[in-house]
Amino acid sequence: MITPTDVPGPQGELLLRTMPMPADTSFNGDIFGGWLMSQMDLAGSMMAKEVTRTRTVTVAVESMQFIKPVRVGDVVCCYGRVKRVGTTSVTIMLEVWVRPILHTGKDQFTTFKVTEAAFTYVAIDQEGKKQTIDKTRLAGAAESSV
Ligand SMILES: CC(C)(COP(=O)(O)OP(=O)(O)OC[C@H]1O[C@@H](n2cnc3c(N)ncnc32)[C@H](O)[C@@H]1OP(=O)(O)O)[C@@H](O)C(=O)NCCC(=O)NCCS
Repeated sequence: MITPTDVPGPQGELLLRTMPMPADTSFNGDIFGGWLMSQMDLAGSMMAKEVTRTRTVTVAVESMQFIKPVRVGDVVCCYGRVKRVGTTSVTIMLEVWVRPILHTGKDQFTTFKVTEAAFTYVAIDQEGKKQTIDKTRLAGAAESSV
């Protein structure tokens, strides 16, 4: 079981920063896990496209655990790093951290991790068929993950 204190700080590049709205809540007032997954997918797909320089589709999401709830008005930050670049796929490790700026008290500015997961994207052509990633064009972090 992961607890918020087990983790040192966000790992990777800040890919997306957003704020959930009341329409994103479940009946108990917390944010839907699906909303969070969708933000992660968006963030991961941006990074995947930067790596592959092609269109991509999400092919898999590895096990995801929600550590703490997210609330309306929280600042949600999604960080990512390239974990692996395969023949046609790229796996991005994504973490979501929250800054609860609307909360009162000493925890107001304490940033904490709410979830993490590995998202895998496949490079595709115009017909939606997988295509080989051109590894001669990889840069930075992606280069060392081949
Ligand atoms: C993605 C897609 C084009 C792959 O086509 P495919 O011919 O079946 O491809 P493969 O099974 O050979 O897999 C392609 C790559 O994905 C990887 N992959 C496939 N399934 C995976 C899984 N469950 N976990 C991790 N990686 C996976 C393979 O390892 C391979 O990577 P590599 O080439 O780097 O080694 C096809 O499955 C597809 O169109 N899926 C739907 C995607 C989609 O619509 N996503 C949005 C959902 S709403």
